[in-house]
Amino acid sequence: MTDDLDTLRTETATALAATTDLRAWDAVRVAILGKQGRLTALLKELGKVPHNVRRDRGARLNVLKDELTTLIESRRTGLEAAALDARLATERLDPTIPPIPHPTGAIHPLTRTMEEMAAIFGAMGFTVGEGLDVQTDWFNFSALNIPAHHPARADHDTFYLPGARDGRPLLLRTQTSDVQIISMLSQPPPLRIIAPGRTYRADDDATHSPMFHQCEGIVIDRGITLGHLKGCLTDFLRAYFAIPTLPVRFRSSYFPFTEPSMEVDIGWNRRTGELGGSGGTGSDWLEILGSGMVHPRVLANVGLDPREWQGFAFGMGVERVTMLKYGMPDLRPFYESDIRWLRHYGFNPLAPVALHEGAA
Ligand code: DAH
Repeated sequence: MTDDLDTLRTETATALAATTDLRAWDAVRVAILGKQGRLTALLKELGKVPHNVRRDRGARLNVLKDELTTLIESRRTGLEAAALDARLATERLDPTIPPIPHPTGAIHPLTRTMEEMAAIFGAMGFTVGEGLDVQTDWFNFSALNIPAHHPARADHDTFYLPGARDGRPLLLRTQTSDVQIISMLSQPPPLRIIAPGRTYRADDDATHSPMFHQCEGIVIDRGITLGHLKGCLTDFLRAYFAIPTLPVRFRSSYFPFTEPSMEVDIGWNRRTGELGGSGGTGSDWLEILGSGMVHPRVLANVGLDPREWQGFAFGMGVERVTMLKYGMPDLRPFYESDIRWLRHYGFNPLAPVALHEGAA
């Protein structure tokens, strides 16, 4: 014996079987269980059913509702699984296909050099400090024992700026040596700091740019001697140029903020431009950096007692050592942002800065 409930069951099953996607499936679901759905209508009409059969029909309707709900849900699961199978069949992944290369940028050679400096000096216990591009003449000159009217001020073609800070004239720093003062004022000794950064002088030709980079270094401790300075800078230069036998010469010189002061030369061959060689007799020397023992007056300027604390400082041109290491003839392309030059001279950003033999 079949009645309207059996018919609804059969027709729902048939309609579900005919669905091929979730949209069609949802139409069936709404037609049966929705607000205007056929089962919903039957449930609503229960009140009008004669008393003697209402209880029995109500129970059968509830059973049917559970059955249809289960039937409809299982069809959805089936359709979803079929859709996934179809996708997996068409979108097959081939892990042997080489990846599409992502264009990566390149690390600018100057950045790379400053990273190498940080790595090499870092291995010797130095931390990296920072100065200010816009500085007062006190940090750039006076505190470094270069008072007003000192001839060294005239040597630096300084860009002065309008305005003042702490009552002192503002300028674009001409050297990273302001970091010496900043370091000593901001942390108690002992300290070992390098500070690569930008510097400015009113100079512009093939070997000079109005903006360039220097790297300053300062060590303050008890009992620091010239021997420490020589060992530290010799190790650095040999590590940086990756020539363990690089000849290094210390030549007496003058800087207002160091006493004694020394210029440091490395051995090279003037004819071939090659670094290294035997140095000394028959070979040539190339000036590479300035250095010296921190002047007692500079220590006193930042409130350190020169009888207790000594130290050495050094400063070098970042462009200069970069050009020498990679054989770059001209300074100007560093700032021209020519992408072809950068592709040629730039460094892979994923390649870590390696410490060469001889560092630390
Ligand atoms: N500041 C100097 C310059 O620009 C370089 C220099 C020389 C730095 C000797 C130093 C130093 O710290 O001790 O030419």
